[in-house]
Amino acid sequence: MKTNSVTLFKEAYGKFCIPAINISMPEQIHALFSTAQKMNAPFIIQTTPVAREYMHPLMLINCVKAAAKIYPDALFALHLDHGNEPHIDSAIESGEYTSVMIDASHDPLEKNIERTKKISHRAHLKNISVEAELGVLSGVEDHLNIEEENALYTNPADVEYFVKEAGCDSLAVAVGTSHGAYKFSGGKGLRFDLLKDIQKRVPDFPIVLHGASSIDYEEIKRINAAGGNIKEDAKGITEEEIRKAIPYGICKLNIATDLRILWIRILREYLQNHPDQLDPLRPGIQYMQELELLIAKKFEILGNTNKT
Ligand code: G3H
Ligand code: 13P
Ligand code: NA
Ligand code: ZN
Repeated sequence: MKTNSVTLFKEAYGKFCIPAINISMPEQIHALFSTAQKMNAPFIIQTTPVAREYMHPLMLINCVKAAAKIYPDALFALHLDHGNEPHIDSAIESGEYTSVMIDASHDPLEKNIERTKKISHRAHLKNISVEAELGVLSGVEDHLNIEEENALYTNPADVEYFVKEAGCDSLAVAVGTSHGAYKFSGGKGLRFDLLKDIQKRVPDFPIVLHGASSIDYEEIKRINAAGGNIKEDAKGITEEEIRKAIPYGICKLNIATDLRILWIRILREYLQNHPDQLDPLRPGIQYMQELELLIAKKFEILGNTNKT
């Protein structure tokens, strides 16, 4: 059954976390719905503008609709990740998305509020949940001085004002993670001091963590052994950090890169080991099988199993 994000967050707050999995291929949709149905695990399936343009929004939405029929017990929200106004318009008009993100985090505070507020009004008329972002998500680089570094993080002092004015239902914060395979390049890890301060200012308000892939070092090594050239200092969020973040109100964890790493490892090894094959469905089948295991492991860590 499809629901909106807010409904999922109400159950989860402080106790467990809803995985928000970025999908851009049918194999990923299958693996996600299948695992979630088996484990009675509520989830968010999310699509970026890039994914929508790759598959075509209609194709993508209809694959998700088909999955909901194939796996009728799955409980999920369909979310637009990193939306801008044109994609948000299209998502709202589709009648299929139950959740959207307006990413105005690169705008100054007041502009961010203004853009988010407009979306909140429109989306709420249709019972669609709205995620906003405050703070700039990026790797904290070694060469930045403290002042520059602090400017990238979400300022807890802005959070209460922002959510009240912007009318959003959840807030993505910059507390040390970044997108892609190279997080925590400054070696600082997740800023629990900021999470704690944010929760104190907006108790019970759902907080979202972007850039929350774990980046399995063994997978990176296998990619490189099969001809890849991924820097071996690739690093993600640890299992301990994820578990520790949940009581701070982290209700949604965004995961994209871990799925990509698995697919690239499988493809590279397959091509290297089967130079005589022409059937792309064979690595595809392997991907679906191994992705189910990866997703099941995420569910265990996030604690969202047996919650539908
Ligand atoms: O933030 C989301 C993803 O990591 C970026 O995905 O390449 O589909 O925009 P994208
Ligand atoms: P990762 O790159 O860590 O998977 O983050 C994904 C994300 O935040 C999507 O919005
Ligand atoms: Na999002
Ligand atoms: Zn993101």
